[in-house]
Amino acid sequence: MGFSTLVRTKDVDTVIHQNDEGGADHHTRLGKSLGARDLMGFGIGIVIGTGIFTLTGVEAKNHAGPAVVISFAIAGVISMLAALCYAELAAAVPTAGSSYTYAYTTIGEIFAWIIAWDLILEFALGAAVVARGWSGYLQSSFNLPQAFFGEEHSVVNLGAVFIAAVLGIIAAVGIRESKWVTNALVAIKVSICVFVIVVGIFFIKAANYKPYIPPSRPDTSGKSGLSQPLWQWASGSHATAYGLTGVLVATAVVFFAYSGFEAVANLAEETKDPAKDMPRGLIGTLVICTVLYLAVCAVLTGMVKYTGLSEGAPISDAFKQVGMGWANVVIGIAAVCGLSSVILVDIVAMGRIGFALCRDGLLPPAVGQVHPKFKTPFRITIFTTIVVCILAAFVPLATLAEMVSIGTLFAFVVVAIAVAVLRRTKPKMKRPFRTPAIPWLPIVSAVSCVALMSSLAVETWIRFLIWLVIGLLVYTFYGRKHSRLATGEKAIAGVDDADPVDV
Ligand code: ALA
Repeated sequence: MGFSTLVRTKDVDTVIHQNDEGGADHHTRLGKSLGARDLMGFGIGIVIGTGIFTLTGVEAKNHAGPAVVISFAIAGVISMLAALCYAELAAAVPTAGSSYTYAYTTIGEIFAWIIAWDLILEFALGAAVVARGWSGYLQSSFNLPQAFFGEEHSVVNLGAVFIAAVLGIIAAVGIRESKWVTNALVAIKVSICVFVIVVGIFFIKAANYKPYIPPSRPDTSGKSGLSQPLWQWASGSHATAYGLTGVLVATAVVFFAYSGFEAVANLAEETKDPAKDMPRGLIGTLVICTVLYLAVCAVLTGMVKYTGLSEGAPISDAFKQVGMGWANVVIGIAAVCGLSSVILVDIVAMGRIGFALCRDGLLPPAVGQVHPKFKTPFRITIFTTIVVCILAAFVPLATLAEMVSIGTLFAFVVVAIAVAVLRRTKPKMKRPFRTPAIPWLPIVSAVSCVALMSSLAVETWIRFLIWLVIGLLVYTFYGRKHSRLATGEKAIAGVDDADPVDV
């Protein structure tokens, strides 16, 4: 297998042309109707989820203390650097495939495959994380048994399995939320954050902020050395809890809270003026989410001492602890509604990625087959739903979130590299938005993502590497030979008949 085979690329001009009005037929062309505000609404709808509603409590309690605010701030800045890279590519190569297509047109097929394989991980596990978060809020609102709905003393999370199964079926039969429902859910989630900030602020006790960064101490939790951050393990240090290391570990985990903003770039084909609207949509989404996140974290850790935060439903539980029982129930029900849409979007996105891979010949066409009546890639959707249910039943929320974080960070590294490479290989390409400070910004973006990845547990790295090895085996024994770039095939029966954006 020659190296040139692995790094064969799709021609960027062909991809752009395919999406032009003249180049696409009516099956593959999308209506251009979205503006910057629509993109921000969509972005906020995907981004605000279990990260802020649940991980804030888990990470403040176990790793960062009140300094979880610093963790959210660092993760927000790193996401912003990545957003500036995404904005250049999304405006220049406005396709529904986002990072997968950018990699395919710039650094080569094998990298595109790895990105897609990585996105599968991000979306499937992301759905499982949010399903567990959903279950935690249900538990808190109705005082259900922790063993079947919560994070503490969990045996099997039946609540998470239930919601993932229901939404998986909805995705398989192709019911998409109407714009009205989407907007309502976004409003609910933003309202919860605003409520926490403006009401919770009156319950802040300065004593709860002390110590702001709990002092580092040897880790006595009895967990194996493999739960240490990679860099700490590699340097031969002893496992510690809290301290600056704890803040960095929390940063890598709460990074999950920002994941999903890059899905805004997937809407580039449907955007009226991607050159202007894409950067505004991506950056606007991140700015709004970052401001809300920092304020919510600061208030929450001021309301309740970090050691007393709930791991399943910290926000609603904090109001219970300060004597506002009704707010606990209202927030819980609102969170349960708001989180449902994130799970649905993740499962639908999984179907789209699987579909794109089958269309490009990197996975067998039968896998991506579209249901004749529902017009959805039902096989991928059902299979994904089963996997999501199993993971959500047994794997703790923080463990799953770490996997999503490592996958997202890895995708950001590849996108940053793609921006820098494309500037060299295609200097004349039209770039309606230019990432500032080239090559430094992509370099800083990639290096900071790698640094955060190294703060994740060794066992997370092992799981991620196993996933990548499986992906490389699939590519070596299937995708490499059947790729459309290899066979020169124009169409794959049964897959090309359908419109990928209908899924
Ligand atoms: N960022 C999304 C969340 O926090 C995935 O749930």
